[in-house]
Amino acid sequence: MTRSFSSEPIEPEVIDDLLDLATRAPSAGKSQGWHFVVLEGEQTRNFWDATLDVDKRRTFAWPRLLDAPVIVLPFADPGQYLERYSQNDKAATGLGESIENWPAPYWTIDTSFAVMTLLLAATERGLGALFFGVFNGEVRVREMVHAPDGVQLLGAIALGRPLETDRVGRSAGRPRKFTDVVHRGTW
Ligand SMILES: Cc1cc2nc3c(=O)[nH]c(=O)nc-3n(C[C@H](O)[C@H](O)[C@H](O)COP(=O)(O)O)c2cc1C
Repeated sequence: MTRSFSSEPIEPEVIDDLLDLATRAPSAGKSQGWHFVVLEGEQTRNFWDATLDVDKRRTFAWPRLLDAPVIVLPFADPGQYLERYSQNDKAATGLGESIENWPAPYWTIDTSFAVMTLLLAATERGLGALFFGVFNGEVRVREMVHAPDGVQLLGAIALGRPLETDRVGRSAGRPRKFTDVVHRGTW
């Protein structure tokens, strides 16, 4: 993940290509219950104004994160799953009746697949990307982008050209788990 960006804009065709790939991710019943709000230029400043207090910025460890020319907001939409699973070929599952009936929140899972695809596609093009949580100011962000009720904001993705002076994240020193997490045949 990249946390320091050049402010140089990304060409609109590149953003379109990344989103085109993201929206090819798998989804339950091909519900595609995801939405991506793309913020650029002034809109990214409004995002930061809503989510990062000005006094916290002075001590913020990654000031050049705020230079990312693009912020993509991924939203998961459970309503589209209820609609899809109420259709004739899916109604027998009972999943169209209530989100309580779902064994796992597939809207979150599917939107996460799409986010991962976007991250991989960006990296493959030599761009930098960071997925991060929106811990503050979500209400303001939702108002800003006119997000309808019921859609769930999963976080935010900063996109842009990485700076060589990027400072790694606080968790970067943790070793990648492999033997502890891969279980062949049994736990
Ligand atoms: C659900 C999720 C939330 C994350 N939230 C943040 C965040 O709020 N701030 C941040 O700097 N990185 C965040 N990250 C990025 C992780 O820290 C990063 O993926 C991990 O440390 C591996 O980094 P690397 O790919 O650079 O090695 C988040 C990642 C995920 C998947």
